[in-house]
Amino acid sequence: MGLDPLDLAVVCCLIASVVLYTKRENILTILRGSDSLDPAIGINTNGSKDLIEIIESNKKDFLILYGSQTGTSEDYCKKFAKELHSKFKELNILCSDFENFDFDEPNTLGNLVGKIKGLVIFMSTYGEGELPDPCVNFENYLNNIIEKDEMTGLPVMIFGLGNSTYEFFNGAAITLKKKLVTEGGAKLLGEVGAGDDSIGSTEEEYVSWKETAFEIIEKEFNLTGGEDAPFEPMYEYVNYEGSEDNVFQGELNKNYLTADKKHLGPFDQSYPFLANVLESKELCDPESGRNCVHMEFDISGSNIKYETGDHLGVIPQNAKEHVSKFLSTLGLNGDEVFDLKLKDPTSTLPFPVPTNIETAVTNYLEITGPVSRQMITQLIQFIPDTEEKVKQRLVEISSSPDVFHKEVIEANFNFTDCLNYVSPTFQWGQYIPWTFLLETIPSLKPRFYSISSSNLKDSDKISVTAMVEVTDAKKLVCGVTTNLLNEINKGPENAASLPLHYNLSGPRGSYKAESYKLPVFVRKSTFRLPKNLDTPVIMIGPGTGVAPFRGFIRDRLISNKEADMMLFYGCRNVHDHLYKEECDKEYIPELKNLKVFTGYSRDPTVPKTYVQKLMLDEKDLIMEALKKGAFVYVCGDAGSMAKQVNDTLVTIISEKQDIKIQDAQEMVKLMKLNGRYHEDVW
Ligand SMILES: Cc1cc2nc3c(=O)[nH]c(=O)nc-3n(C[C@H](O)[C@H](O)[C@H](O)COP(=O)(O)OP(=O)(O)OC[C@H]3O[C@@H](n4cnc5c(N)ncnc54)[C@H](O)[C@@H]3O)c2cc1C
Ligand SMILES: NC(=O)c1ccc[n+]([C@@H]2O[C@H](COP(=O)([O-])OP(=O)(O)OC[C@H]3O[C@@H](n4cnc5c(N)ncnc54)[C@H](OP(=O)(O)O)[C@@H]3O)[C@@H](O)[C@H]2O)c1
Ligand SMILES: Cc1cc2nc3c(=O)[nH]c(=O)nc-3n(C[C@H](O)[C@H](O)[C@H](O)COP(=O)(O)O)c2cc1C
Repeated sequence: MGLDPLDLAVVCCLIASVVLYTKRENILTILRGSDSLDPAIGINTNGSKDLIEIIESNKKDFLILYGSQTGTSEDYCKKFAKELHSKFKELNILCSDFENFDFDEPNTLGNLVGKIKGLVIFMSTYGEGELPDPCVNFENYLNNIIEKDEMTGLPVMIFGLGNSTYEFFNGAAITLKKKLVTEGGAKLLGEVGAGDDSIGSTEEEYVSWKETAFEIIEKEFNLTGGEDAPFEPMYEYVNYEGSEDNVFQGELNKNYLTADKKHLGPFDQSYPFLANVLESKELCDPESGRNCVHMEFDISGSNIKYETGDHLGVIPQNAKEHVSKFLSTLGLNGDEVFDLKLKDPTSTLPFPVPTNIETAVTNYLEITGPVSRQMITQLIQFIPDTEEKVKQRLVEISSSPDVFHKEVIEANFNFTDCLNYVSPTFQWGQYIPWTFLLETIPSLKPRFYSISSSNLKDSDKISVTAMVEVTDAKKLVCGVTTNLLNEINKGPENAASLPLHYNLSGPRGSYKAESYKLPVFVRKSTFRLPKNLDTPVIMIGPGTGVAPFRGFIRDRLISNKEADMMLFYGCRNVHDHLYKEECDKEYIPELKNLKVFTGYSRDPTVPKTYVQKLMLDEKDLIMEALKKGAFVYVCGDAGSMAKQVNDTLVTIISEKQDIKIQDAQEMVKLMKLNGRYHEDVW
């Protein structure tokens, strides 16, 4: 009896999975590049990015580096560097981003041996255990340039930031240990820290890792000090008396200070494009009780190129309600204009200056979101003993993670909520310095959205699909960015009914043109349709997870109307069924091989249905498509959906091909390795 193409595929996959299992490391090495030195990698010609030169010319002897995509590792790294410096003054610390240095030359890390006392790294993880985007050169160094034992004896400490709902939990930190310590010969001090933001415990993991790290550093380098030092500002705070024209009012860099300047890019996170909102609409019915905004940005004339499946970064601002509560709780004068001068030339300013306090709070600081226990602990130093009651309460709520969780986190308090909870009448502003706040509160970070347009069909615009986040409307526990998009979408006539309001005119009125503008930038992703236009695609995206699939479908309207596409979509009920109308009227009639399967989870008239159930119902179709080489795409919730969809596919393959679950699991893993199974999950 002959083998049909699928049986053959299964046999091949089984053989391949055995090979993969036994030679996993070799295969990964081949896929990611060899470890041998590549002389063609390039020569470092830019002196200002030369790590050793910067260390030597600034007389630094301790290096702390971070790799960060959305700023969390950066925040932790800077906190660590500052605390280390205040404890051990004799260390001359250089704290910086991997991105600021060239890693093209052989021995870039090896040259550190003997030049610095130690190296501490903070690193987050993305993709399949990879380093964040700004570390692309460093990752290349690790994979292709680093030589065996080049770091012999150099003390290294690593703190990883990750999320345990992803398959490769803290994969980047694990890679660092392998490359720097096991292969590079560096001496690992302490354990590799593993922050986990799936359960919001990064802060606690960091605090306990850091405490051990300080003890180890003190002993290893024979340092004196180690006590908790009082707060000492990193920057010199000066009153500004220069021209108004130079005062930042929320502009993200100096290119925007001159209103009439033409911006040609290239645009990125530090130089975003001010995009006009072309159109926006509400995607949920009023009966749903929720808002989901479809917003289109005009990118014509910007030179911005995107590809279907990329992400759009949106740079937000804080709502006026949150800003005024922050200023009043902390007794700050929002109009006070100030400048900051660097005390250490190798450090960087936290945001553009000169500016005023209200602008800084509105545009540059993450003042909402859960408050950190460490931040509350640090406040205690500023409260005099005469204010015994307040001091005692701060100690009580911050001394144990459990108490803090119960009293502060479970109540959804942000920083100002927490202060008002401790004492609504206390004059916090008399004691807590603004310089402490501006250095300690994390920076306001961009939010990313899966692009829901297609570069083929919508080359001059980019759309996003954003569910408006409201955790507790009464207490204004609302998402920063999605409520900003919601206010723009609702328009001034409906603004009164909204919980939050923003300065939609932007700095110097520069965001108010024909419509509104927002600072945005494109981030490349690997979530791409197959190059072969005839390859079938299976798309699974409940809720806003449907966003990139709208883009995929619109792509095929231009590139191949015969395309074999399946979309598994789930939502609560018909009222939050995103893009139902355009799908029924535009896509299904135009794309004859597009099949859409929808399930409702909160419609009392039908049994609760998730996308996994829809997939099982269509297992024959799925298997048939897989036999034809289909690509599988999953988008949306990383927490549980993505894992369960993976398991459902395993079940389908195992059942339909009559193979063991473990073998079906290996097949799905292989699909991921071969780029036939993609996830865009968050
Ligand atoms: C790669 C990627 C793609 C994404 N694609 C999409 C997409 O297509 N569509 C989409 O809608 N989202 C998407 N997201 C999520 C998006 O980036 C934002 O995280 C989301 O929109 C919330 O942003 P926000 O600023 O409105 O909320 P944030 O201000 O970041 O708040 C987040 C949540 O915390 C709650 N919160 C605020 N303060 C507190 C507190 N003190 N205690 C407890 N909870 C609090 C808020 O109510 C909100 O629910 C994506 C994320 C990533 C990483
Ligand atoms: N990790 C994050 O920070 C973050 C931030 C924003 C959104 N998300 C996730 O991204 C997704 C899209 O957000 P959204 O607000 O648009 O979604 P949503 O409307 O809350 O959910 C969309 C649909 O997915 C269903 N669902 C819930 N758990 C599921 C599971 N394990 N498997 C399959 N379906 C499941 C929901 O059913 P129910 O009726 O049972 O809820 C609903 O029918 C959500 O799943 C959300 O959790 C995550
Ligand atoms: C799109 C995306 C992919 C991620 N992939 C992983 C992963 O594979 N493994 C992991 O441990 N964490 C993963 N994370 C979690 C981040 O590493 C974690 O949130 C970290 O704190 C981010 O730090 P940063 O802001 O410095 O980049 C991912 C987060 C996002 C948004």
